[in-house]
Amino acid sequence: MNILLLGSGGREHALSWKLAQSPTCSALYAAPGNPGIAEGATCVPLDAGDHDAVTQFCRTNDIGLVVIGPEAPLVDGLGDSLRAADIPVFGPSKEAAQLEGSKGFTKDLCARADIPTAGYVRTSSLEQALGALTRFDAPFVLKADGLAAGKGVVIAETREDAEATLTDMFDGKFGDAGAEVVIEEFLRGEEASFFAITDGETIVPIGTAQDHKRVGEGDTGPNTGGMGAYSPAPVLTDELQEQAMREIIEPTVKMMAADGNPYSGVLYAGFMLTESGPQLIEYNARFGDPECQVLMMRLESDLVELMLACANGTLGEVAAPVLSDDFTMTVVMAAEGYPGTPKKGGVIELGIAEADGAKVFHAGTKLDGEQLVSSGGRVLNVTARGSSVTEAQTNAYTALDKIEFADGFCRRDIGYREVAREAQ
Ligand code: AMP
Ligand code: GLY
Repeated sequence: MNILLLGSGGREHALSWKLAQSPTCSALYAAPGNPGIAEGATCVPLDAGDHDAVTQFCRTNDIGLVVIGPEAPLVDGLGDSLRAADIPVFGPSKEAAQLEGSKGFTKDLCARADIPTAGYVRTSSLEQALGALTRFDAPFVLKADGLAAGKGVVIAETREDAEATLTDMFDGKFGDAGAEVVIEEFLRGEEASFFAITDGETIVPIGTAQDHKRVGEGDTGPNTGGMGAYSPAPVLTDELQEQAMREIIEPTVKMMAADGNPYSGVLYAGFMLTESGPQLIEYNARFGDPECQVLMMRLESDLVELMLACANGTLGEVAAPVLSDDFTMTVVMAAEGYPGTPKKGGVIELGIAEADGAKVFHAGTKLDGEQLVSSGGRVLNVTARGSSVTEAQTNAYTALDKIEFADGFCRRDIGYREVAREAQ
């Protein structure tokens, strides 16, 4: 079968690497792809925003499955356009992608389905938001409703800061995303991510992970898209995963179907593990980046079979995903300046980084003639396995230290919480 993968980051490199391993994958195309993806796929310059062009490409190239990596084309309805043309697609419809695209939509669904999540108020004017603030205690959790490239959530320590942030949000600092703002109760606990794939009815878990969103060691400095991750996240015990499936994931998928918006694709849930159990912080309608990289390295099942079953509504007929017992870790090498203005064009020499079973997924690279250079904020995802988080960490940093990238930096403490627990 011919497959088209949309996207160009480390997540898509990991997906393309896994898709290409499937015996049913005959030709793999990626749009636009990147130099790492190009090692195993044909990269094509398709614009995911041009639904007619994508549909036409699928017809011309006999595409039997489209995999949509990032959220923007999902929220933009590319899945609907492809389904209307009878092209199987892994990824939710525009309506269903609101689980990621609108914080207010998700909070209202949680309220209707009695799903454990932080108390909240939806506001659509500065006046209303300032009034609602009095119902919360510091720290204040303020969320622009729409997609804001991971920057739409602000935790304000004081009421003054919260008021200033709300003023910025309604002033358009986050563009259209801030036309509505959700104010939430602050939850305490450790965060972990849970992934499930679904065809709208059958739901199966596909792993857990823990990300590191702050740019600095010890979780300091500004938020990023994620500086590293490992899988599984042992804090999400089997018992907590079952509780989360029962109390959060299943009621969500059921409610979406009952509302006439069946959700198909991957559901990525961010949980706060509170004293009373997992509470939903957010949903994403796609795999996490860089969490996908560590999941794909552990996945032993045929990814094409699973994705196609989600697309065709036959997930109940295929074997559930099997993940290896190994731990995997990915460390992000970012370009100096990230997450502000990253320095682009820095020369990269991968050398023998992959010599001992590690895999370097490309996130923001391009070829300048023959030379690999950086082209974005997060540049490389150095991914390795081990029999513990500590061993996966050693292997990931050993591989990373073989790479020459003078303009790059990384956190040296990815996995620190679990490494400390393993040392006890
Ligand atoms: P989100 O984009 O919704 O995942 O939020 C980004 C980050 O903000 C999360 O990963 C949490 O660290 C933090 N956060 C979001 N909502 C809450 C909350 N209600 N209580 C505490 N922290 C939160
Ligand atoms: N790593 C966080 C995300 O993909 O949203």
